[in-house]
Amino acid sequence: MAIVKNGTLWKDTDGNEIHAHGGYIIWHEGYYYWYGEDRRENWYVSCYRSQNLTDWEFRNHVLTTESETCSYRVRTKQILVNADGSKVNLERPKVLYNKKTGKFVMWVHFENGKDYQDAAAAVAICDTPDGDFTYLGHFNPYGYMSRDCTLFQEEDGTAYFLSAARDNADLHVYRLTEDYLNVEKVVHRLWQGEYREAPAVLKIEGRYYMMTSACTGWAPNQGKYASAAAMEGEWSMLREIGDETTYHSQPAFLLEHDGKYLYFGDRWGGNGDCYFASSYVVYPLIVENGELKLQYVEEIEL
Ligand code: DGJ
Repeated sequence: MAIVKNGTLWKDTDGNEIHAHGGYIIWHEGYYYWYGEDRRENWYVSCYRSQNLTDWEFRNHVLTTESETCSYRVRTKQILVNADGSKVNLERPKVLYNKKTGKFVMWVHFENGKDYQDAAAAVAICDTPDGDFTYLGHFNPYGYMSRDCTLFQEEDGTAYFLSAARDNADLHVYRLTEDYLNVEKVVHRLWQGEYREAPAVLKIEGRYYMMTSACTGWAPNQGKYASAAAMEGEWSMLREIGDETTYHSQPAFLLEHDGKYLYFGDRWGGNGDCYFASSYVVYPLIVENGELKLQYVEEIEL
């Protein structure tokens, strides 16, 4: 156990800065795997692993401009580099392990890096948690725009992809196919016109909680949350959580660890002016009288 200081760029076990922004953590066979954006060099997504959430070993740049691509169904575009040689943007990568297929499946937000108009979801796949992922390409689920996103997996393996649609005005929930490689149903089009970004979901004591941010670019804003008795059930109205800057952060993902509920957020560098100085925060989440609360802490023992 060690203490993690919020708002600093944590180092990996080799002493290098961890670049895993807008990320996601899964537990697999004795390790936590942390995936996140790494915009340095020709990298897109990097992966670190840890047994205690504080000592992170760098494992691999799992998705890069050089990643293998593979076409798996109609009308996906396998573009990892633009025609002029520039990088595309792959934001907010999330990964789940599919027990039925034995594959690790990544969903990530695709933009061409020049404008913000592709608003697409991309999928990548790998046999191991930290191997080289094969890029299956991007598409618009049912033709919808798809920006900030997350994944959520039920204990029975059913999984959902959530993303901001209609220029971020609505938040869609899609049930995934059994192999997690496609969407099979639009389950919800939530909070139309509320412009929510950065969705993150966790089941706490049998109830589903979703945190989101408002839509102010990289600048932090008032976090909100909603809850539901089931992913496909009725979601509550949005309620405020944390302060007007969500304690200077934007949601990345929510995690249960050691019987505790944790919020992982990004503190974007210089409100986005300095992306590479972006750091991480972890705040405890508690449910009190049916309300979800975020506790501000400067540091946390994990
Ligand atoms: C807010 C999103 O949440 C981030 O992931 C990023 O896409 C910025 N917008 C870009 O302005």
